[in-house]
Amino acid sequence: RPTLMTGIQPTGFPHIGNYLGAIQQSVKLQNSESYDKIFFSIVDLHSITVPQNPTILRQNIINLACSLLACGLDKPQTVLFQQSSVPHHTELAWILGCLATLNKLDHLPQWKEKSPSKEDVSLGLYSYPVLQAADVLIYRATDVPVGDDQIKHMEFARHLARQFNKIYSPVFPIPKQITSQHIRIKSLRDPIRKMSKSEKDSRGRIELFDSPDEIREKLRKAVTDLGTGGMIGYDSQGRPGISNIIDIHAAVEGSTPDQICSECAHLTTVEYKERAAEAIIEMLKPIRARIVHLRNEPQHVVSVLSKGNEIAAQNAAKTCAEVKKLIGLS
Ligand code: TYM
Repeated sequence: RPTLMTGIQPTGFPHIGNYLGAIQQSVKLQNSESYDKIFFSIVDLHSITVPQNPTILRQNIINLACSLLACGLDKPQTVLFQQSSVPHHTELAWILGCLATLNKLDHLPQWKEKSPSKEDVSLGLYSYPVLQAADVLIYRATDVPVGDDQIKHMEFARHLARQFNKIYSPVFPIPKQITSQHIRIKSLRDPIRKMSKSEKDSRGRIELFDSPDEIREKLRKAVTDLGTGGMIGYDSQGRPGISNIIDIHAAVEGSTPDQICSECAHLTTVEYKERAAEAIIEMLKPIRARIVHLRNEPQHVVSVLSKGNEIAAQNAAKTCAEVKKLIGLS
């Protein structure tokens, strides 16, 4: 039976890249009623692969839970939970880690992105993809909605699933990545790099809780070139800044960069940024309103999470027991 699993790190407020790259797709799949269970994990153990302030981390976990509920991940079949409260993730990660070679891990992107040099890479950061594989496989997930930047991690999860199945027994379905819009949203301040919760300059990202004025200001300040007479044009290599805004706008409207360019051909870059800001504000308006509401009900959010933790642990425990038996550990 199809089972969906995905995760998001509580490293800051989720942004429009997370929304368009993964959350929106997860909500659509949830609403398609094709899955008995949807496991949506707040992957706090992944977040500590880089330093976190404990007080802020605790706040980020609650903010993220509020945001995900506000985005619509609130159906009965959806299990919203905190990774660290289900110990089977780390147990399976250890077991899978025994099948992962340094050679494979060396080629994966996470440690390279987050660490300036190899000497400084912690073991946790280096083995980040092993824990991610365990997150998916512990629920025997078939479908994983994630953004385009997760291709290598998902290939690695499939590799570990095949390895385990070959050595022991075919316990794990081979999980497939689901990415609807193959876009990687870039930073508004540095459109060569992906939009990220952890970028120091918060003007680089549009967070789901940003006010309309903040969104207008961030778009106004977004780095773009002067282009051809100040007019817009799509060229992701040559004009990454404006192309990124067109990508975001197209994803928000459910349209294509070509369509956006022809509809907005008469606008200057300055006018176009205002138009794109209004479209983003419109899309985020109901989500923001629900976040405000949920933030006033922290008890409700905590109870959703603790119920999710319990259901996730029940499901994870079954796989873990079977795996341990196969290996000879029980
Ligand atoms: P995280 O928190 O960095 O990202 C969460 C989701 O958002 C997508 N995403 C983006 N999509 C488009 N443009 C962007 N700029 C952008 N930034 C982020 C990511 O692809 C992701 O889908 N490694 C995962 C967390 C994870 C996970 C898992 C995911 C841990 N275990 C198990 C799925 C299944 C991550 O990148 O989180």
